[in-house]
Amino acid sequence: SRPLVIDCDPGHDDALALLLAVASPTLDLRAVTTCFGNCSVEDATRNALRVLTLAGATHVPVGRGAEGPLSGDLALGNYVHGVSGLDGPDLPEPAMAPDPRDAVELLADVLRESSTGVVLAVTGPMTNVARLVQKHPDLVPAIAEVIFMGGSTERGNHTPTAEFNTYADPEALDVVLQTGLPVRMVGLNLTHQALATADVVRQMAEMDHVVGQTCAGWMGFFGDSYRRVWEFDAPPVHDPCTIVALIDPDVVTWREAFLAVELEGRWTRGTTVVDLHGRYPDQAPNAQVATRLDRDRYWEIVLDAVRRLGSS
Ligand code: BDR
Ligand code: CA
Repeated sequence: SRPLVIDCDPGHDDALALLLAVASPTLDLRAVTTCFGNCSVEDATRNALRVLTLAGATHVPVGRGAEGPLSGDLALGNYVHGVSGLDGPDLPEPAMAPDPRDAVELLADVLRESSTGVVLAVTGPMTNVARLVQKHPDLVPAIAEVIFMGGSTERGNHTPTAEFNTYADPEALDVVLQTGLPVRMVGLNLTHQALATADVVRQMAEMDHVVGQTCAGWMGFFGDSYRRVWEFDAPPVHDPCTIVALIDPDVVTWREAFLAVELEGRWTRGTTVVDLHGRYPDQAPNAQVATRLDRDRYWEIVLDAVRRLGSS
């Protein structure tokens, strides 16, 4: 199974991504690192610990990461994810403490200890990975790829043009793009195909265990936020798309393209620019960009994982 670290800011959809990775036999979740984003890094860390406790994955170390971006103002997503960053159903108290190492040192140790490349799945701002490659450039070759939820080939959500994760730390994404590492972007254009419609939430609620019911509760809270803020009928469940893409390569369709992130625009800071039509002939493709999701297969994989976790 493939060694994986999830760098996240849980967050309702991050939480589901964690459950999915824990449940998947083809993935070997070596660590979880946390970042500010949907909430403060303190809350994100506590939420990650609670979610792993719920999943029975108390052996997975959780390293606390960045409190804010490399530069620019702090942006938080509590207006979507609630006061705690993971409001809604009651969760168990954490059964373990955070790892004594911070996110960067935990990541560095995981990279050093793995004989094969480690996949970094980033479902929050890119700050921790940027700090890692700046502090430990010698470890870049130990990263198999960076697959991240963020950006879009189309419009944004936190601002009209910028998606939240890329808005929250555009310089960090830029640093990671400059490394030349294999990068895969799972943007809003993809994740808006992953809507937790009523039938999906019902299937979660009907599971005869606390994991399924907790997921249904998360989707309920998340769905209310999406109705209120963006007038969506159902919430897009962004972050697990990265993990599903690792589990089953056929669920997501990819296009190779030049990807950049705007650092300076007066209104467009944090906006991703994806050249799908070769309009910048001098810019070589530097990323794989997700374009199409097999929605039925996506929910089959997610629901199956939740079902198995709760029954184990
Ligand atoms: C992203 O921002 C957060 O609200 C979600 O967890 C996801 O990572 C979507 O823009
Ligand atoms: Ca997230």
